[in-house]
Amino acid sequence: MNQELLKFNEFEKFIYAEPVPSQNIVELYTLFCTLHNLFPNGINNIIEIGVYKGGMIRVWNKLLSDSGVYIGVDDNAWKLIPEVVRKYSSDKNKFVVMDSQKAVPEVSKVLNNQKADLLYIDGNHEWEYANNDYKAYKDFVSKSGVIALHDTHYVNCLGSARLWVELIHSGEYKYYVNILGDKRQWGTGLLINRE
Ligand SMILES: C[S@@+](CC[C@H](N)C(=O)[O-])C[C@H]1O[C@@H](n2cnc3c(N)ncnc32)[C@H](O)[C@@H]1O
Repeated sequence: MNQELLKFNEFEKFIYAEPVPSQNIVELYTLFCTLHNLFPNGINNIIEIGVYKGGMIRVWNKLLSDSGVYIGVDDNAWKLIPEVVRKYSSDKNKFVVMDSQKAVPEVSKVLNNQKADLLYIDGNHEWEYANNDYKAYKDFVSKSGVIALHDTHYVNCLGSARLWVELIHSGEYKYYVNILGDKRQWGTGLLINRE
């Protein structure tokens, strides 16, 4: 199935089934192909901070390894999460419905001493919140894992843009990849440590 989704037209058809993620399709397709190439055997555990309508869960489920789980963290501020939990909750998809900072011990319990290969930060985009999410969750990520920051290039999310620039300048990671869409770019920054 993943092989088919590596064709843009197939990916587009897949994405435009409801719920549509709040993403730029070119950006999302590039992210999908990049993660597929980085993790050819699947991603072992994904943490997404900020679930919204759950539009990314279908994408994450295509990328997860057989034993990997998805952990969605959301404070339900927009009252959308109960429906998402009802629709997707399973052995594969777990949800921690609380503020992302308070959720850290719960996420740790779900991981059960395992690490996550992908941390996707897309909750509150104010600098303080995004930075706190980065700091509180980065140690959950495996050595060969990836940290993704959404909205690195969106004018209404200057906090995420600032954090992205700061992280580049920190020099803490080997590779900094910023994925941009075609029009109305949001920007997805990837922090990668692998050889
Ligand atoms: C931009 S949306 C996420 C979009 C989703 N990742 C997607 O691609 O479809 C942001 C989400 O973050 C959640 N959120 C905002 N602040 C939060 C916080 N402090 N803790 C947990 N979730 C938060 C909101 O409830 C909202 O659902």
